[in-house]
Amino acid sequence: MDGVAVSCTDVLVVGSGLAGMVAALRLAPRRVTLLTKTEGLPGGSSLWAQGGIAAALGADDTPEAHAADTVEAGAGLTDPALADLLAREGAQRLAAWIDAGLPVDRDAGGRPAVGREAAHSAPRILHAGGDATGRTVVGWLAERVRQAPHITVRTGAVAWELVRARGRVCGLLAFHAGPGDGAGDGEAGDGAVDQGAGWVFHRCGTVLLATGGIGQLYRHSTNPAEATGDGLALAALAGAGLRDLEFVQFHPTALATDTPGRTPLLTEALRGAGALLLDGAGRRFMPAEHPLAELAPRDVVARAIGRRVARGEPVLLDLRAIWAAGGAARFPTVAGICAEAGIDPVRQPVPVAPAAHYHMGGIATDRDGRSDVPGLWACGEVAGTGVHGANRLASNSLLEALVFAERAAAAILAEPVPALPPLPVPAVPALPADAAAAEVLSARARAVMSAGCGLVRDGAGLEAAAAALAGLQREADALPRAGTAGPDGAAGARVRAAAELRSRLIVSRLIVQAALARCESRGAHFRTDWPEPRAVWRRHRTVTLDHPADA
Ligand code: SIN
Repeated sequence: MDGVAVSCTDVLVVGSGLAGMVAALRLAPRRVTLLTKTEGLPGGSSLWAQGGIAAALGADDTPEAHAADTVEAGAGLTDPALADLLAREGAQRLAAWIDAGLPVDRDAGGRPAVGREAAHSAPRILHAGGDATGRTVVGWLAERVRQAPHITVRTGAVAWELVRARGRVCGLLAFHAGPGDGAGDGEAGDGAVDQGAGWVFHRCGTVLLATGGIGQLYRHSTNPAEATGDGLALAALAGAGLRDLEFVQFHPTALATDTPGRTPLLTEALRGAGALLLDGAGRRFMPAEHPLAELAPRDVVARAIGRRVARGEPVLLDLRAIWAAGGAARFPTVAGICAEAGIDPVRQPVPVAPAAHYHMGGIATDRDGRSDVPGLWACGEVAGTGVHGANRLASNSLLEALVFAERAAAAILAEPVPALPPLPVPAVPALPADAAAAEVLSARARAVMSAGCGLVRDGAGLEAAAAALAGLQREADALPRAGTAGPDGAAGARVRAAAELRSRLIVSRLIVQAALARCESRGAHFRTDWPEPRAVWRRHRTVTLDHPADA
């Protein structure tokens, strides 16, 4: 298992959420290999999205109004032209997908139903399957990916390293834990293809990263287990610039739990429908925090809840009125979450706490997904176009993934297939011999991030986090190493644990350094030692691994 098979393709897409699948579909007729760390399709955070897709498709709405709300939420860092592109193209492109059969909930007149969410000036949130929007939409896309003859899907595949030659990306080394899931009947290329477990060098002129977010760098996140910042780490190791890393959005109302990992989300749409936030004594506290009370901007609500939770006080989301009016049918995912937690929302309010939710920062790209390393592209949450500024507007993430995945695919198709120089097959890396030891370090890194670089930050806490992460990096470097020969399952788990630890440490350290550098508060980045926005900081910041302080 320590040899390396070679597989050739035109475009390698990494990631199986909405962005990766839309890009893969739109890249026909190029040969596409879609790699995903998950055991099946679809994967990623898109699957878990409850709140919907924002798009100006309602009768009383316009792309201009949607763009203005996006700029307002971005707290001074959203380029109005980019917001305009998102809103205008988003409405057109989403309408085209709906015409092509993408399922969305309809109103009594048969038109796509639009709901309202905080900080949107008009009803413009489309849902599918009630609050199962992500699952419904990416499930539909996954069917199309499986049927697409130009796409080969490899599940259980850990992307290890981008391979470069003559200044451009020429492929990617990955570890495959097992055979593909049989999706698609496309040829995987003209190289020797290993359909079993082991290392594979995917030789190609174009790699498109759509690996999603970083929520799992924190103890509690609404993101799934795979959201460990792998795309950011791969890009950083390849020399790409990363933009606005300090901006991490926390969702105000995840289910409160002590267990680390993916924390179920109680969608913002519940507060849109009238759910109230209560303190331990059953009193509303949001009216004293903000004129919009429960519908205040997401970061304001998250900090108001987070302050109370940090003091050890419970915060409760009261769904009783909604449930009394038949809310369980409208919010089936929330009903399932409550049932699993043993909570009856008719009788008792639901305990909630903020959890890491979305990364506004990402791989610095242009508006077509091009990074600053030739051959490397990015779209979806892993990309940092800057469109979300310092704070993403609710329900803009699926729309952004759709728009920029389509733009990246179109731009890749507009370029000729690059001719690749002769390349040696990359060497197999020596990895930590013990997956459990890597996972212990990962758990410690998560605790460090939550304590020092979470919802509320300050210089001293960030310095302490930076020192702790540097110590963890030294411990990781000192772990005993070994090759990957051995039973398939064990080798796969070891590669994944090693890759995730590496991603975690690289990306966490860069986020902490970015948060330390930004001496102000803006949007989702809130520092108690610099509690106000500062004009001098009304700018994006791009860093590289070699120049984490500034680039
Ligand atoms: C939610 O349903 O509250 C999350 C939606 C989003 O993050 O856009």
